[in-house]
Amino acid sequence: MSERSSLVRGMRDLYEDELANIRLVETVFSETLESYGYALIRLPIMERTALFSRGIGEATDAVSKEMFTFDDETESLSLRPEGTASCVRAVIDANMYRGHQPKLWYIGSMFRHERPQLGRYREFYQVGAEAFGFSGPDVDTELIRIVQDVWESLELAEEITLEINTLGNTPSRKQHRDALVEYLAQYKAQLDEDSQRRLEQNPLRILDSKNEQTQKIIEQAPSISDYLDAESRRHFDEFQERLVRLGIRATVNPNLVRGLDYYTHSVFEWNTDKLGAQKQVGGGGRYDGLCELLGGAPCPAAGFAIGVDRVALLRNELGLASQASSPDVYVVALSDDEEDYALQVAAKVRAASSLSVRVHQGAGKVKARMRAADRSGATIALIIGAQEAASNQVSLKWLRINREQVTVPVAELPSTLLNSN
Ligand code: HAM
Repeated sequence: MSERSSLVRGMRDLYEDELANIRLVETVFSETLESYGYALIRLPIMERTALFSRGIGEATDAVSKEMFTFDDETESLSLRPEGTASCVRAVIDANMYRGHQPKLWYIGSMFRHERPQLGRYREFYQVGAEAFGFSGPDVDTELIRIVQDVWESLELAEEITLEINTLGNTPSRKQHRDALVEYLAQYKAQLDEDSQRRLEQNPLRILDSKNEQTQKIIEQAPSISDYLDAESRRHFDEFQERLVRLGIRATVNPNLVRGLDYYTHSVFEWNTDKLGAQKQVGGGGRYDGLCELLGGAPCPAAGFAIGVDRVALLRNELGLASQASSPDVYVVALSDDEEDYALQVAAKVRAASSLSVRVHQGAGKVKARMRAADRSGATIALIIGAQEAASNQVSLKWLRINREQVTVPVAELPSTLLNSN
């Protein structure tokens, strides 16, 4: 025997119940986003590495440690670790924001070379939305409202909490950054190794550290709220007021800085405590400087992305998971002579209803055919023997409930099926 192929670490095959659960989450997001007037955009899985290092930031974990990067002839390419940079590139490429304010959403796999564990994969799925051309916090709150609607539809509203913060505009951020570096530099030797490394490259991320000793030092660190200029403060105040008006509960976490470099003003994260170490089910915020940074005209923008796998896992954890669907109807010809008639019956049912119909294939004795009908998970078997075929009839056998088998003319089959539950 030749060697069996196996999955690459951190990749998964998704099927049956796990996939049904993921698809439900995707469907609810898709319907909700479309209902708010967001248009679907399909983005490539691969981009130039430079797009991510410029857009997301060279020093972020997502770019410096977690990208799947390879050389292709003359340039370095990477699998996308997230969707925002690609979406901005696409908007700039097609000049979509000229005279327009595009609201876009996307869905698909993202790739990060992280240590795999429950809820953390190297290929995972995100649903994201990005709105371009709006500078006010009304869009920030609309994005949050959309996600809140989804939590409600998925019965997760009580399980997920929202944290918000502001990073201010670029001048406010810069002032805060300088003050933070000056403060942290005094304690450099006491910081954890990661934070020492970040001190030069990405000091804001130190605020996110989970290390206890570093956290103690952070407690006294200068807070962004002390460095906000009037414009930044106004934006954040209005953002919070609007959330209150929409009835959305949120906690301000002054240490919420996000892991990607492009944010300005509002940032937000949705968390759960039901998934162990993987607390974050989604995140987002405003990124007013990114279009310009990537070579486009200046354009304010904001968006979010949700980890679909984590939301599906959370539903599973809470016993809300959906199950993979079986066919509704299984058509069994009792011998090969009735096969053509069985195919016609199946086609009629499909045309007259939205029921899913599977037709028995492969020879076999009557008993084996009926066993296959049962194993398919269908609720009803349509049995076709020589007698049924000769008289244009079909016998219905209920496979999951105790009900007497009936034989009806084919013409009455759709209505009998529709009234059978
Ligand atoms: P992010 O916080 O890096 O934001 O990722 C969003 C979500 O993707 C996370 O909250 C998490 O649920 C999920 N996620 C991230 N890594 C993994 C993984 N290895 N396995 C499973 N799930 C994961 C962004 O990606 C930004 N682009 C969000 C955004 C859009 N900001 C503005 N617009």
